[in-house]
Order: sequence, then structure tokens, then C-alpha cells
Amino acid sequence: MYQGTLIFATGNANKVKEVQVLVGDDVQIKSLHDLNHFDELSETHDTLEANALEKAQFIFEKYGQNCFSEDTGLEVEALNGEPGVYSARYAGPDKGADDNMELLLKNLEGITNRKARFRTVISLIIDAKEYRFEGVAEGHVLEGRRGAHGFGYDPVFQPIGYERTYAEMSLEEKAPISHRGKAVKQLVTFLKNF
Ligand code: IMP
Repeated sequence: MYQGTLIFATGNANKVKEVQVLVGDDVQIKSLHDLNHFDELSETHDTLEANALEKAQFIFEKYGQNCFSEDTGLEVEALNGEPGVYSARYAGPDKGADDNMELLLKNLEGITNRKARFRTVISLIIDAKEYRFEGVAEGHVLEGRRGAHGFGYDPVFQPIGYERTYAEMSLEEKAPISHRGKAVKQLVTFLKNF
């Protein structure tokens, strides 16, 4: 079992809580705020893998602490994997989730292949060595929005095997089947066997 502290390279307290619950008491998950780091981390690459590593490496080098980071994208088959690594800023740097969904639906107008997947990559650095984990959720992009929970593209994404969109699911229902949940589960298993 990995023992001690692990920095989650995020400022999102909810994400930190989610992982802490899964990891148990042997590992203390801390956020960037616990390091008094409040700046956004750069994501300058064009793959989820490279961006996740960039963020983890930056924190490891700056603070000398074991850490992990994640990067997520929605990869739409008919759009050659777009918006992918650019999911958060698909409609432009100052646009929000509504604009992103609107652009996605517009770009898919008249296209019958709605296959898409969410992919999360986690990059973990322990004592300068990188370990990588991935979680994938396959599904479809609907033709309109359904549901009010969640964030991002949740209202237009329906995972395979489910009648409802992510935005129609409670957090308890979405978390274990989601891309992020699957990637975190792998991280937790790794830490337990470390
Ligand atoms: P991040 O790497 O977790 O910040 O995710 C990047 C972007 O992908 C977010 O800004 C959202 O647009 C989208 N995204 C990530 N995870 C989800 C999810 O669970 N549901 C819907 N959209 C998501």
C-alpha cells in the first residue's frame, strides 16, 4: 500500500473528496490549494496524455511532492475525435459548457453516426517515475439536451447500456460508471498494491 500524502493537481475540492473516499485513510489526498497554489496549470499539448503528464511533472518539480493529475476529453467518432483534448474550450477560450454543447450539436447536424466516448487519463508521479491510468466511457451524443445534473457535456451524452444521459443520473449513479470513475478506480487499485 502506498502510504503518505499525494497531491491531486487540481483546485477542484469535489474531485479531491471523490478520490479520498475511494482511496481510504492510508493516503491523504491534498489539492493544489493545500500547497497554496492557486494558478491554473498549463495544458499546452495536443493529447490528454501529454497534458496530464505536463501538469503532474510541473507540480512534482515545483514542490517535490508525489502527485497525480488528470485530463479528460469527449472524443466523437464522426468528428475524428474532436473536441477531444479541446473539450473545455471547444467553442472558444471564453465560452462555457452551453456554447460547447451548441457547437457540438451543430457540427453533428445531419450526421447519423453519433458514437462518442469520454476518456480520462491520469498521470501519477511517485519518486520521479510516471505511471499512467485510463478510463473510458463509450456512448452516443444525442440530438438535443436531456437532464439538469452534472456539468460540461453531460446533457448530450448517453452512455451505452443506459436509457438516460449523464445529466439525468445522480452523482452516485454516474461516478462509478463514468470515465473519471473508472480511471480513479485503476489509480486506487495501483496504490493499494504499491
Ligand atoms: P477536465 O480535464 O476534467 O477539466 O475536463 C475537460 C472538459 O471535458 C470539461 O471542461 C468538460 O467540458 C468535459 N468533461 C470532462 N468530464 C466530463 C463529464 O463527466 N461530463 C461532461 N463533460 C465532461
